[in-house]
Amino acid sequence: MLRLAEEIGALKRQKNAVILAHYYTRPEVQDIADFTGDSLALSQQAARTDASIILFAGVHFMAETAKILSPDKKVLLPDPEAGCSLADSCEATAFERFLKDYPDHLVVAYVNTSVGVKALTDVCCTSSNAVDIVRRIPLDRKIVFAPDRNLGNYIKSVTGRDDMVVWDGACHVHEEFSVEKILELKKTYPGAPVLAHPECKKTVLLTADYIGSTAALLEYASSSLADTFIVVTESGILHRMQQENPNKRFIPAPPIDSTCGCNDCRYMKLVTLEKIYRALRDEQPEVVIEEELRREAERSIRNMLEGTF
Ligand code: 13P
Ligand code: SF4
Repeated sequence: MLRLAEEIGALKRQKNAVILAHYYTRPEVQDIADFTGDSLALSQQAARTDASIILFAGVHFMAETAKILSPDKKVLLPDPEAGCSLADSCEATAFERFLKDYPDHLVVAYVNTSVGVKALTDVCCTSSNAVDIVRRIPLDRKIVFAPDRNLGNYIKSVTGRDDMVVWDGACHVHEEFSVEKILELKKTYPGAPVLAHPECKKTVLLTADYIGSTAALLEYASSSLADTFIVVTESGILHRMQQENPNKRFIPAPPIDSTCGCNDCRYMKLVTLEKIYRALRDEQPEVVIEEELRREAERSIRNMLEGTF
């Protein structure tokens, strides 16, 4: 593993490449990345890097976002099968049909979408800025939110925008957490705050002491005085939480079926050091987007990053 990490480092320097990794990737992948972050931080980093090659250790929509923002750079995704069940739950043609019923609505979409859906979107958001973005939209402006029904309903509950139309999509990882098992963990670890990602179901979020994006959960865990936490999101985050807080204890919330390993995102876990090495060596698989579609999608991401909506 050490040898592979060194070879990746050498290739990276030789090719002026940068490795961006999401907090849900494997621990050894996070450890060799130049930058690790949540989806907002990763898209900001992708927009500002001066590397010639961006290797995205994450899933397809994240690498696609990097390519949309940096069209002149080569963007590599080590495994082209690394998709996202949430992005797949909102197909662009179906979404376009759906929007015909809401012609006067502003379209807000989570970045967990394809380039085709982003091209139909007015402003993108991530789990760390979704509430702020919706709050900034004037009350007389109607909104369609896609694709995550759990995040959409969470935004409604926090902002009071009950008339927001929400697309019925979800992530297979965050749908699977069990309220009963979280309540059992709370009994076993009294006083341990429950930290949950807003893609979880409402019944799960009701058990949470703190709700936020992966970066926000990390920040909470580091600044809290508690020494034990129940973590309700994808398991990869525990690596960074433990690294940043070696004296604290993090208990992963189990899914409904404890044997299914469902709190691992199977797509994120497809990214391995071997595949990163091969991708850098061969400069593929490369993310390619047709230019007109890219330009249409770019507007929605720039509107998010620059607050122009
Ligand atoms: P973050 O926005 O917290 O990085 O989450 C991305 C994601 O895919 C959650 O499932
Ligand atoms: Fe997509 Fe869910 Fe995996 Fe996040 S955890 S990348 S939303 S499938």
